[in-house]
Amino acid sequence: MSFIVAIDGPAAAGKGTVSKAVAAHFGFAHLDTGLLYRVVGRAALAKIGPSLDPERVIALSTEVSADDLDRNDLRTAAVAQAASKVAAIPEVRENLVTFQRDFAQRAGGAVLDGRDIGTVICPDADVKLFVTASAERRAERRFKELEQRGEDTSYDTVLADVIARDKRDSERDVAPLIAAADAILLDTSDLSIDEAVAQAIAAIHAKR
Ligand code: C5P
Repeated sequence: MSFIVAIDGPAAAGKGTVSKAVAAHFGFAHLDTGLLYRVVGRAALAKIGPSLDPERVIALSTEVSADDLDRNDLRTAAVAQAASKVAAIPEVRENLVTFQRDFAQRAGGAVLDGRDIGTVICPDADVKLFVTASAERRAERRFKELEQRGEDTSYDTVLADVIARDKRDSERDVAPLIAAADAILLDTSDLSIDEAVAQAIAAIHAKR
């Protein structure tokens, strides 16, 4: 029997950390749906270039496979920005729906994290969480992460990127970043990782 946990929220709010911990705790499969858009964004940069011509991007989005999600070049700032641009193309989103819905039906339960899981991909999810934090806190976390990966960047650049991506994700016409009406809000600005994870697990236990 499937049990679906939808976790949405803006970049670097802690969705990934919370989703992995929740999946490990309950033995659910986990899909970071941002990776699907990153796969398309990376391929678009490599094969099309900065113009990101929509017709060609749409064609690339039909070729995404599970193996692509394991690539180790998807976490760069350039790929993140490209991902958020290709994610605003309605046909790209449509081409990625089936992969996500099939994953959600896994026996034993599934956690999907992204921007539109509780609103579009799995509107009937058993539990919906909207994980958020202030833009400054998110930029601090993302900056540390990029620094550890050896990317040459600054806090101010990362903050500007986070704000630009929030704006694009929230204002696009299709599947904008928005909390589902029935989502539980989890603001991680002043929470430790352990506290955020504990609150998410408690919310899921309450629904099981
Ligand atoms: O979560 P992550 O930062 O990896 O996502 C990269 C980009 O992919 C986001 O900025 C967003 O534009 C897009 N995305 C989306 N819908 C999702 C997941 C990610 O539009 N479900």
